[in-house]
Amino acid sequence: MTKPFYLTTAIDYANGAPHLGHAYEKVLADTIVRFRRMKGEEVHFLTGLDEHGQKVQQNAQKLGIEPQACCDQVAELFQGICKELQISNDDYIRTTQPRHVKVVQEILQKLYDAGEIYKADYKGFYSIRQEQFVLEKDKTPDGKWPELFGEVIEITESNYFFRLAKYQDWLRKYLEDHPDFIFPAFRQKNVVEFLKEPISDLCISRPKERLSWGIELPFDKDFVTYVWFDALTNYYSASLEKQCWPADIHVIGKDILVPPHAVYWPIMLHALGLELPKKIVAHGWWLSAGRKVSKTKTDADADAPKEKTAIELMRELGADAFRYFVMREMNVGQDSEYSEALYLSRYKSDLGNDLGNMVNRVLNMTGNYCGHVLPAATVCEALEQNLRELWEKTERQYQALAADFQFHTALDVLWNFVRELNRYANERAPWKLAKSEDPADRAKMETSLATMAEGLRLVAVAVTPIMPGIAAKIQTLFGIEAAEKFEGNLAWSDILVGKTFGEKAILFPRPDDGKAPKKA
Ligand code: ME8
Ligand code: MG
Repeated sequence: MTKPFYLTTAIDYANGAPHLGHAYEKVLADTIVRFRRMKGEEVHFLTGLDEHGQKVQQNAQKLGIEPQACCDQVAELFQGICKELQISNDDYIRTTQPRHVKVVQEILQKLYDAGEIYKADYKGFYSIRQEQFVLEKDKTPDGKWPELFGEVIEITESNYFFRLAKYQDWLRKYLEDHPDFIFPAFRQKNVVEFLKEPISDLCISRPKERLSWGIELPFDKDFVTYVWFDALTNYYSASLEKQCWPADIHVIGKDILVPPHAVYWPIMLHALGLELPKKIVAHGWWLSAGRKVSKTKTDADADAPKEKTAIELMRELGADAFRYFVMREMNVGQDSEYSEALYLSRYKSDLGNDLGNMVNRVLNMTGNYCGHVLPAATVCEALEQNLRELWEKTERQYQALAADFQFHTALDVLWNFVRELNRYANERAPWKLAKSEDPADRAKMETSLATMAEGLRLVAVAVTPIMPGIAAKIQTLFGIEAAEKFEGNLAWSDILVGKTFGEKAILFPRPDDGKAPKKA
């Protein structure tokens, strides 16, 4: 039995509501696995919630509820948004689940027994916000702690440490031997840079008196496990039932690559004698007015002109449009700027004008001129021939770009084809041909409808991983079942000929931007 293709996302902190960054990561991951499934591969897709640690404990305290109750509320929000976004995850792990806690404790015990974990005193500066010890060298040139660290306090405490440092050379060699371990490649260079300085062992415990909300160390009940050690393990603990370790891809944001995913996690796995994930895909940040979209709103945000968030627009304009917008805008690995205007512009022009109108026109004309039954293409002049050739080229490029996570250019290439379809429609002008008594004109009119419909069917199949809802809707309106595989469905065909087409339909209704005339 071959193991399924196993893909994970970061597990979100259970300390606030989901925002664009979280939603994007899920859509990116979902797009990757849907491409795989369309190619006939078996996939196991995991996402989940990171429920332990100081941030969650503090948030619960603030709300005056138990941490678990707080996690349950947040879990509902995050699972709810996954559903809204049409995320096709097969599993949802929560780090307070017994299946996870058990594995974390087993791993800790195993490393402890092997001498990979030791106890020592530690005196140093600690960032509460980042939940990590920080060093003098982390200070800004003017001798202050970077804002990112929040409040920094000096503490001395006994803790348990994982022997990270002794694996530094091994990791360096591993990265040399696996230049494609991290996507995009420039991020792997960041890791190599990081490893040029000596790394220290990793403190993997927190005394319970300081933090009680965590997984108890199996060998010392006065301590809980450091949240990152706990959280990273989710990828492995959730894989056991399906036996699908190693992960094929970890999808994460750039802020949690170095050191957690690119240093701690590979070393933890190696020390345990487990295989490493095949690849880490680190996406960039969504920014708003130049700043990272995040849970913590500051005063500056309050003054900013109020615009709709991406999540609000998703609820208003649908999951497919959201998915298209984020995948079309973001070059995976780079940052991307969000604005309501940009979102609406993509929605109106790419989706409404280019795709939606085209579908509507085909439905309308097939209804009016052909009694809703799609006629055959009997004419093949240069116009038709060019379109077919363009499709072949488009499809090849689209697949190659998607395989390389270049979804934004893949969509650009696909939409270039959609616009060519529109140009073709305008040149053939079937609405004019339909008025002619000449049978040759009738043949051209019918050919143009068949050609437009087939072109749109191909686009719908191709775009299925990104807009599964719209793709299915187009195919249904064209009288066929939605394709579940690429194979056999991406070549120019006459499968639609003779099918009964639906009534005209608005796929992307105009947004309520205050400009629409009010209904009486
Ligand atoms: O880091 N743009 O959780 P988290 C794009 N629990 N992505 C963003 C983003 C933005 N503005 N803001 C956040 C954690 N993300 C840990 C992970 S994994 C074992 C533990 C991404 O809720 C972020 O990069 O802060 C991360 O991949 C994910 O959302 C969860 O972030
Ligand atoms: Mg974060």
